[in-house]
Amino acid sequence: MRKIAWLVLMTLLASAPVLAQRLSDQTSASAKVHFIENLLQQMTLDEKIGQLRLNCVGVQSPREQLLQEAAASRVGGIFYAVGRADLREFQDAAMGSRLKIPLFFAYDVIHGHRTIFPIGIGLASTWDMDAVTLAGRTAAQEASDDGLDMVFSPMVDITRDPRWGRASEGWGEDAWLSARYTATMVEALQGSNLGVAGNVMASAKHFALYGAAEGGRDYNSADMSLPRMYQDYLPPYRAAVRAGVGAMMLTYIAINGVPATSNTWLIRDLLRKQWRFKGLIISDFNAVADLVSHGVASNGREAAMLAIKAGLNMSMFDTLFRDELPDLVRSGAVSQEEIDDAVREVLGAKYDMGLFADPYLRIGAVSDDPQDIHDESRLHREQARDVARKSLVLLKNQRNVLPLDRTAVIAVVGPLAKSRLDILGNWSAIGSAAQAVSVYDGIANALGAPERLLYARGADVTDDPQVLNFLNAPGANPADVEVDPRSPTSMLQEAVEVARHADVVVAVVGESRGMSYEGASRASLGLPAYQARLIQALKATGKPLVLVLMNGRALSIGKEHDAADAVLETWYSGTEGGNAIADVLFGDYNPSGKLPVTFPRSVGQVPTYYNHLNTNRPYQANDPRAQTSRYFDEEYGPLYPFGFGLSYTQFSVSDITLTRHNLNRGEVLGASVVVKNTGPRAGATVVQLYIRDISASISRPVKELKRYRRIMLQAGEEKTVSFNLSEQDLKFYNAKLEYAAEAGAFSVMIGLDSRDVKEARFELF
Ligand code: BGC
Repeated sequence: MRKIAWLVLMTLLASAPVLAQRLSDQTSASAKVHFIENLLQQMTLDEKIGQLRLNCVGVQSPREQLLQEAAASRVGGIFYAVGRADLREFQDAAMGSRLKIPLFFAYDVIHGHRTIFPIGIGLASTWDMDAVTLAGRTAAQEASDDGLDMVFSPMVDITRDPRWGRASEGWGEDAWLSARYTATMVEALQGSNLGVAGNVMASAKHFALYGAAEGGRDYNSADMSLPRMYQDYLPPYRAAVRAGVGAMMLTYIAINGVPATSNTWLIRDLLRKQWRFKGLIISDFNAVADLVSHGVASNGREAAMLAIKAGLNMSMFDTLFRDELPDLVRSGAVSQEEIDDAVREVLGAKYDMGLFADPYLRIGAVSDDPQDIHDESRLHREQARDVARKSLVLLKNQRNVLPLDRTAVIAVVGPLAKSRLDILGNWSAIGSAAQAVSVYDGIANALGAPERLLYARGADVTDDPQVLNFLNAPGANPADVEVDPRSPTSMLQEAVEVARHADVVVAVVGESRGMSYEGASRASLGLPAYQARLIQALKATGKPLVLVLMNGRALSIGKEHDAADAVLETWYSGTEGGNAIADVLFGDYNPSGKLPVTFPRSVGQVPTYYNHLNTNRPYQANDPRAQTSRYFDEEYGPLYPFGFGLSYTQFSVSDITLTRHNLNRGEVLGASVVVKNTGPRAGATVVQLYIRDISASISRPVKELKRYRRIMLQAGEEKTVSFNLSEQDLKFYNAKLEYAAEAGAFSVMIGLDSRDVKEARFELF
């Protein structure tokens, strides 16, 4: 008896901290509710509607006007303004308002704020959550130091279509991997307590399916079955919700006919009811007004009404809430309750960001303002270089042309070689090109022998007048293409001449950053013709040729792949990109990045994604002439598969050992391989595990990533890599949207990319 009493006491004591935490969470939750309800009661209708506006200084809202609106509580948040001094002025105005409701300040901090990290697709090539955490934490700290409370990030849209210019911003094509990156980034940005400086509220975007816009054409719509949506596109958004993301930005596009901004099913049923999202829902830029172009609202008044009724809380940029909601409420078309519900979310977000406790939490005191906001001391170069190195993917290395010989004469060629702007990529917040390290700079730093470093531009990014017209349109893109006054022939000749004097040629080619951006969809995926000519001319010199690719999407570069001895995918690698690239080129860092997307051979193969269905007539390698699911005028399969990336060393993977061949529910199945470094030097690689449900109630993908592990092996070293799988990993959404694992045969595949895998089978009972 005494023993039982003792046990009860011990159990109670052990759970005391948990109970205390829960109690304190409840107390703080009820304190928040109390605070917000109290404030809401004091607010006039105009003040409430003001909270629903997220605005920026511009032609539509000149600075003076916005300051006056802030002073009258007619605006809830400001975006596109950065820097403590600037933001302080707005907050001072808000603090002069009747109820002193603070503003919050937001900005597009996607891959770094001041120190720029690799773009999303580059971060996703690390397969390294610590690297993503480092990028996110650094960005949050820098954004917070500049007075920002919220970032419009992470961008989590899955895309299977590289024609979409925003493929550059996301985590690639795989839902499972993207969900992990998303959760990691949300946690990194928000920290454990949003109410302290250094942490910022994340606003995941663009809910939902933006990356599925038909044909990869930006702003186009998505029409999709629910099982595909749940299985292949929604997981990252859901992961953001589970990670406690503070805000969610809706996509511009129409989903199954209904624009997200007015999509009641998407907002209320899916996000709020099914996923129990508790945070703030904001529109994308001008998206409420866009409901008229979508053809679901006949005018601005109807647009505002549809959006608020669908559950949108805050409208970005357009002034329709301000202009239309007062009368919509007075006329009874929109209820007070609908307004109050939206206001609660805005106030709740401000409460969580710590702004009611201290409106100047991140703006700080005047005396602490930096003298020069671009001061070198405010950068985090080491972190940026570390992450950038991990994001580089070696796609080819014939005859070990890489790493480069430090005693060689090196010719650096190409329109992107000296660009400090392009290397930052799009959405580079307030990163400064002047502080960025170009590939040429990086190589020069590493080589330290100017007499052995030659340079020629060789070509412009493009000479296509239509493309130039788009990329260089005033204000259309953040980057413009530099047009060299020399003739294409003389530039090409110069490059060839320089190549002839070198031992090896490094050609830095790809897309200017404006080519992989919002509104920048491409109908072709090749290297622009001007640069393609340059590569062939360099090849003709017979010199060893290394391609350093700089681009924001998967490209179809078969000809260039064939021409080059080595290909290094560098995406847009950020402020320290040039140094990081040189680290890899000279072998000071052994590359280990892996593609988070599939590279097609030609644009006509798109969509190309590794987790496709088998179809009734899968391709037959032993009978390529058979009528199968393929394009007869293109070689079958991708140029580079998902998960692919080489190293300066080689690895072998053993056959798979399973701990059991029959799996009952509740049991765990172990699958392991022995990976050996068979090459000459230490290196890291990513071991990937895929599964396939051989026969199910609906056709299932030929492969689905379920686990991966990044390992480091010394030369000659081997390691057993074991993964555990259970029923949970075998679940999918069936035709009735039930998430369940179906009994039957499964295949488990393990390899160092998605194409070259070992296979074993087991049965689920
Ligand atoms: C983009 C968003 C971005 C917003 C504010 C929109 O055009 O779609 O991703 O956050 O602008 O800059």
